[in-house]
Amino acid sequence: MLPIVAYGHPTLRSKAEEIDESYPGLEELIESMFVTMRESNGVGLAAPQINRSIRLFVIDASPYAKDYPEVTDFMQVFINPYILKETGREWTFNEGCLSIPDIREDVIRKSRVRIRYLDEHFQPHEETFEGVAARIIQHEYDHLEGIMFVDRINSLRKTLLRRKLNDISRGAVEVDYKMIFPLQKKSMAVR
Ligand code: NI
Repeated sequence: MLPIVAYGHPTLRSKAEEIDESYPGLEELIESMFVTMRESNGVGLAAPQINRSIRLFVIDASPYAKDYPEVTDFMQVFINPYILKETGREWTFNEGCLSIPDIREDVIRKSRVRIRYLDEHFQPHEETFEGVAARIIQHEYDHLEGIMFVDRINSLRKTLLRRKLNDISRGAVEVDYKMIFPLQKKSMAVR
């Protein structure tokens, strides 16, 4: 299992780089990302969250299957993805993020996304996703652009969360998976 970087870490704010088939250890990395995502009860994990600034994310939406049967089999690897367009009505969904434990907020996004990407065999695809599937893709894709879901809530809500976000960066949060906290004092880390 890989440690997940917490809010405030510079890698989460970088624009991720494309990779090619020669990227070292890619198969193992993808495997580890799936393990890490499932162990931490996430439905998506982007490479910047495990401190790699590359255009890669994985999704396994099966934990949502009960509430959203349409994503029961939605398990996929996205390499070098590019969102071509977002269409449909705007709708609200309560989002969370493994890099921002303990915070969930309603986020408004469009309901449909057209995306071009490579699968784990570097085969190209162009597909349209809708609803919850589109939502997870939009959230993970944002990570590759250095965007966090709390950037997409209104500024009053974000102001109210400021202290909590700062606590997360300092490691002052209860979390049951391994994390790297960017503002954690060394004395706390060795305690
Ligand atoms: Ni996230």
